Order: sequence, then C-alpha cells, then structure tokens
Amino acid sequence: MSDRINDIIMLLCKGIENRKLYYADHPRVNSLAEEIVRLANDHYAATGAEELFIGMADGFFVFEGTRIFGPSIAGKKLIQFAGALYCGGFILQKGITHADLKKFFDITALRSLPVKKIGDARVLFKSYGMSHIGIGDPYTEQTLGLRDDRFKDLEDVSVDEAGQGPALLYQELFDVVSQAYGNAALARNIDIKKARSVSEFMLSSIQTSFADVMQYVHYPDYDSYTIGHSVRVSSLAVYIGTKLHWTEQELLAIGTAGLLHDIGKSRIPVEILLKKGQLTEEECAVVRKHPQTGVEILLEQKGVSDLDLAACWGHHLRHDGGGYPHRPSWAVRHPATALLQICDVFEALTAVRPYKAALLPQSAYGAMLADRGAFHPGVLAAFIDAVGLYPPGTYVRLSDRRVGMVTTSSERIDRPNLKIITSAHGEPLYAKEQYEIALNDRKCQGLCVETVLLDYLG
Ligand SMILES: [Fe+2]
Ligand SMILES: [Fe+2]
Repeated sequence: MSDRINDIIMLLCKGIENRKLYYADHPRVNSLAEEIVRLANDHYAATGAEELFIGMADGFFVFEGTRIFGPSIAGKKLIQFAGALYCGGFILQKGITHADLKKFFDITALRSLPVKKIGDARVLFKSYGMSHIGIGDPYTEQTLGLRDDRFKDLEDVSVDEAGQGPALLYQELFDVVSQAYGNAALARNIDIKKARSVSEFMLSSIQTSFADVMQYVHYPDYDSYTIGHSVRVSSLAVYIGTKLHWTEQELLAIGTAGLLHDIGKSRIPVEILLKKGQLTEEECAVVRKHPQTGVEILLEQKGVSDLDLAACWGHHLRHDGGGYPHRPSWAVRHPATALLQICDVFEALTAVRPYKAALLPQSAYGAMLADRGAFHPGVLAAFIDAVGLYPPGTYVRLSDRRVGMVTTSSERIDRPNLKIITSAHGEPLYAKEQYEIALNDRKCQGLCVETVLLDYLG
C-alpha cells in the first residue's frame, strides 16, 4: 500500500516538473494525471476510504500518521508547493478526475501565487473550479491523525540530518538535465554553463553523496529512462574517474558530458521512448538516431566541449567497432566515451524501469562480460573493481535481519560499509537514529550480507 502512495507522490512531483517544462495539454502531463487517478482509484477500492490525505510536515511526507521515507527527497517540489500555500498537505477525494489534476498542475505552474495564508489557497483552488482536491490544514497531530508516537521526533530532525544535503545534489542534477531536455525538445537554447557548474558541485560532493544519488535507481518513475538515467550515468562516471585518480578538469568534463549524453532522446516521441512492448523496426531506427540528433542539438549551443560532443555521438559505439551510429574508419573513439558507454549499460541493466525489473550488479557484470568485444576490457575491469558487488546506494538485508544502505566499498568486495536504516525487526530508523557499520571490521565478523533488496525504496 505504501508503494502506491510513494508512486502517487512521485507522479505528482513529475507532474509539477513537466507542467513547468511543457504546455498544459502535453501528453506527458496528461499521462501523469491519468496514472494518478488510476492509482488513487486503486487505493479507494483497496481500502474502502473516501479520501487520501498526503500530509507534509517539516520537509517530510506523512501518510496515516507515519513518515514516508522514500519520496521526501525527490519530492521537494511538492513540499515546496504545499509550503507556498501555507498548508499541511493535499486531500485527494474519491471521484478525482484527470481534469482536477490538470488544474492542480496549472496552479503549480503559476509564476506567483496570490496566497498569504491558507484561506487564500482555498480561494485560489475554488477559483480554478477544483472539485476533488482539497487543501489540508497545516500540520498538527490532529490533522494528520497521528498514531505513531515516534513521529514527535520529527520536530527535532533538521533538514540536513534527514538527508536533504545529498539529496540537494540529486535535485540540482535532475533539474539541470530536465531543463536541458525541455529546452532541447522545444528547440530552445540549453544552459551548458549551468550543466558545467552543477558538475562542479557534483565533484565536490560525490564522495559523500554518491550512494544517495544512486539509490534513485530503485524508483521506476517515468523519467528514470531519461533524466534520472543521465544523472546516474554522469555520477557513476565521475565516481569511477575519481577512483582512477583523474584530474579535476577531466572529471568536470566527463560529468558534464554524462549529463548531456542522451540529450538526443528529447526528440524521440514519448510513445516510443516509454513503449512497454518490443519496438518495431522503424521505431528502433528512431531510437538509434538519438546520438546523431544529440550532436546536432549540442552543435547549436554555446560553450559545448569536444567531450560533450564525443560522448553524445559515441556512447553507443562498441569497443570492437560495432554499435551505432556507423563509425567511419577514420573516426577515433574518444577514450572517455569507453567509460561512459560502460556506465550507460550498467545503469540501464541495474535500474528498475516502468517496464522491466532491475538486475543484480553481479548479473549485470555477467551480461557485460559475456558480450565479448563490447567494452574496453581495462576500463570494464576498473569499473567492476570500483563499484564492487554491492554498489553504493544498494539496499541489503544482513544475516541479523537489519537493513542497510551501502555507503562505500571496502577492500573486500563482499563486505562493504553500510548505513543501518532499520532495526532487526524491520522498523525504519529516523535519520538521527541511523548509524554506520563497516562489515569488514573485526567487530562485524559474524555478520554477512544475506540478500540484496532490489525493490526496497529507502
Ligand atoms: Fe543513449
Ligand atoms: Fe544513455
């Protein structure tokens, strides 16, 4: 059930983002609104409830008196919107329609909100003819109907402690890529300078934030295939580059190139990009054109580097000369694209998508090693060495039933360092209760990783 609520929150956030980027009737906004109605109806049918209250308090989402851990980080926009309306959340009532959600998204896209107190927000919603989305009073224990005593602790948890610090990096990276996509789709200019400055921010914080950025690999949201994918490919490349002691200049270049490598996908119709079944030959040809389209888009922008172009053009080329686009014999493959190609494939295999399950890293390595000639062998070996069996951001269950998120690798690829996030009984720990352990430490000798939790949403 909480998965469904997580999904609704994620879709509301995507709706806000997409409504800002596109026009009101854009197919993306429409399909997000439809999906939210479908999930809300599932919720009413499964629970017999007449309404669904998504509460927001102190930077977190709250549902039925329990803090929801997963989407708080990516859901910054929805929380900000509620804050701007001086409210404590939104009530989705039974009978909610696609039209209600579109009005909701329209309001989120207003440049300035004529709201100074919650009453103004209610008037605003009414003036849009909103019929099934209500505004909840600001958070108090009564309005949230809290049953969980531990929720009181939330008042003491500062935003930083709760993990917003690393999440900020993800949000910044996500925003810059999603703006670039939106602008490229509409043939507007892309802010390459901004992509470079966000890469600089990534460089300074990747060591501490990498695990948090990578955990979004577990969210099967609509943009995983494009925006989230680019963010993770770029972060992986910078992370590996750091392990390989690349210079700051090189890391900055590959970080930016990673963010922009799939920009050509912004011109692939959504129906093809998100198609669940097998693509027809013509559709395949459209997809395979994205490196070339990407280069055409980038060549029109100011401040593009050679590596941005090389990575965009060559990230689907194989080490043995195969792949696409067709490589003329005189064209030399840029070495950094070998790393981006590996990050690209690894991310695609290990990420959950709306239409496919994720592979375990071990299985991904197996598939990549079996594809002889596809990858630069030295770079692939360095990649596997740096990422390990349990990449940072992976959730694992230990032999004593505690759940932890891998933070960094250790000398033993099967014994990483972890942040413990649940008790042995599976109860989630709040940020301030979480703690780090080093599995390779003597103290942890009796413990081992029992399972990788592919579907666990922090
Ligand atoms: Fe691509
Ligand atoms: Fe890609």
